[in-house]
Amino acid sequence: MVASAPVDPTARADLRRIAVIPGDGIGPEVIAVAVRVLETVTQISGRRLEFETFDWSADRYLRDGTTLPADAPARLAREFDAILFGALGDPRVPDNRHAADILLGLRFRLDLYVNLRPCQLLDARLTPLRERGEQDLRFVIVRENTEGPYVGLGGVFRPAMPEELGLEVDISTARGVERILRFGFEYARRHGLNRLCMTDKSNAMPHAHGLWQRVFQRLRSEYSDIEARHLYVDTLAAELIRDPRQFQVIVAPNLLGDILSDLGAQLVGGLGLAPSANLHPGRIGLYEPVHGSAPPLAGRNIANPMGAVLSSALMIEDFGWQPEARAIRAVVQAAIRAGQTTPDLGGSSGTRQVGDWLCNELLRQGLPED
Ligand code: NAD
Ligand code: IPM
Ligand code: MN
Repeated sequence: MVASAPVDPTARADLRRIAVIPGDGIGPEVIAVAVRVLETVTQISGRRLEFETFDWSADRYLRDGTTLPADAPARLAREFDAILFGALGDPRVPDNRHAADILLGLRFRLDLYVNLRPCQLLDARLTPLRERGEQDLRFVIVRENTEGPYVGLGGVFRPAMPEELGLEVDISTARGVERILRFGFEYARRHGLNRLCMTDKSNAMPHAHGLWQRVFQRLRSEYSDIEARHLYVDTLAAELIRDPRQFQVIVAPNLLGDILSDLGAQLVGGLGLAPSANLHPGRIGLYEPVHGSAPPLAGRNIANPMGAVLSSALMIEDFGWQPEARAIRAVVQAAIRAGQTTPDLGGSSGTRQVGDWLCNELLRQGLPED
């Protein structure tokens, strides 16, 4: 009998497998930087990441019709610890069919009901708001990610006729609303925050958003330690500009959260900088920059990779790798302070050069002390 090699009980804890989906446009460019930064930070800390790349994209769709293979969600959940995703969207696919199948397909089929989109000002010079500093802009948008008008229910009647009708059904379920609100309240508690704002458009959408109101009223009494307030989404958009200090956790229905997250991104430096995590606690998560494939920037080495890099920090933070996540955020902030940025943030570096700078700085600084 051959004795098996002793198993190192800590080995698994230090290895994670990442499915990488670079996608279209600037997706592959920003994801290449995020992967390099992850490789560098794990080289320093001694933990290990394995990457496997999947080519689901417009190119693949146009080549052989593949969008999201039927067994992909189950396989990703079984074989990987996280998904790192670039962006999808290509002018050659005007109906966005592949993007809907792949991105919305993964969100729905993995039931990633939380889209967590932190908005944090890393340098006072980046906000377009007058007299606002780093302490003033620090909130997270908790976007519902599996319901609303995104579910694809609807249809077209009398297509291409003058009387054509397009119908999109906006759904909210009691279970869906309750779980996202609970996530918001629990997130606040976990992070020592005490203010939550729920937003909707229940004055115009009494059915679906009336349900949000009722579930919110029920839950807020359970979380009496959190100051819970409601704002209609139009008022919230105005208040975010007038005085963003009011907000810590914002919980929003899917479409409203999508719009608010681009607004939030712009308040802290723009789309190039904004990270996100698509989550279902206890299951595999999908981490992606908030921005899209930005076709006009693609292939020019000018896209800002920081949104992708900060998304990878959210990913390893969820692995419990806090020192590495903090190190990544610290070097991104250092790059901004040093002006080592792409043109969207006022710098003159290329995408890859920002990546070089981040990796060199990580090697120079090492991991932060606890
Ligand atoms: P977009 O986010 O791709 O780009 C809008 C603008 O924001 C760009 O023109 C650019 O000025 C700026 N920008 C975005 N990312 C940047 C970066 N990393 N660095 C510097 N500037 C950046 O939005 P869009 O133009 O409305 O959409 C383009 C395509 O992307 C569409 O097909 C859309 O459906 C898709 N999209 C995909 C995702 C996703 O995959 N998660 C998200 C949003 C949009
Ligand atoms: C995002 C994007 C997507 C969304 C699109 C591409 C369907 O805008 O991730 O914010 O609306 O969710
Ligand atoms: Mn969006």
